[in-house]
Amino acid sequence: MKILFLKAEETHDLRHSVLRPNQPRTAVVYSGDEIESSFHLGVKFENQVIAVSTYHLESSPLFPNTERAYRLRGMAVDPKFRRQKFAERMFLFAEAELQKRGCDLLWFHAREVAFPFYEKLNCLYASEMFDIEGIGPHKTMYKRIPAR
Ligand SMILES: CC(C)(COP(=O)(O)OP(=O)(O)OC[C@H]1O[C@@H](n2cnc3c(N)ncnc32)[C@H](O)[C@@H]1OP(=O)(O)O)[C@@H](O)C(=O)NCCC(=O)NCCS
Repeated sequence: MKILFLKAEETHDLRHSVLRPNQPRTAVVYSGDEIESSFHLGVKFENQVIAVSTYHLESSPLFPNTERAYRLRGMAVDPKFRRQKFAERMFLFAEAELQKRGCDLLWFHAREVAFPFYEKLNCLYASEMFDIEGIGPHKTMYKRIPAR
């Protein structure tokens, strides 16, 4: 299984079916997706995209002492392919890629259902629980990326 760099539009079907099934297609086009500093990772099986995740250069007021923060968005794995380490492999690949890009911190809004996944990857909590309308409870989480 190989982690691939994807075009933004290749992430859309899975983002829609897994993360925002009740929202219009336009909801899966994230602002910043096409910016040069952004990148998208994925896994394909028989030419179908079965796992996706996106990384945007974006700071957060929760991490004021950060030089170059990235935000993780749209982490999703096709339900038929879960618990086979696809998401974990993507995350580890992203950490190495972010390190190459001089990123010092990765942060994201984690869905409550995904807390055990991110905890396993040694991500930490930076907020209390908050609700994102139409999606559900989240906490901000992060992981520091060491310098090369
Ligand atoms: C969260 C998600 C991306 C995980 O993808 P995955 O490929 O199934 O995860 P992995 O196989 O890489 O899991 C690695 C480890 O994380 C933990 N983990 C993953 N999913 C878990 C779950 N549902 N419950 C408990 N622990 C879990 C386990 O420790 C797992 O290792 P193990 O299977 O050896 O026990 C996937 O379940 C998903 O797409 N969920 C719906 C969308 C979502 O919530 N995305 C995150 C938005 S913030």
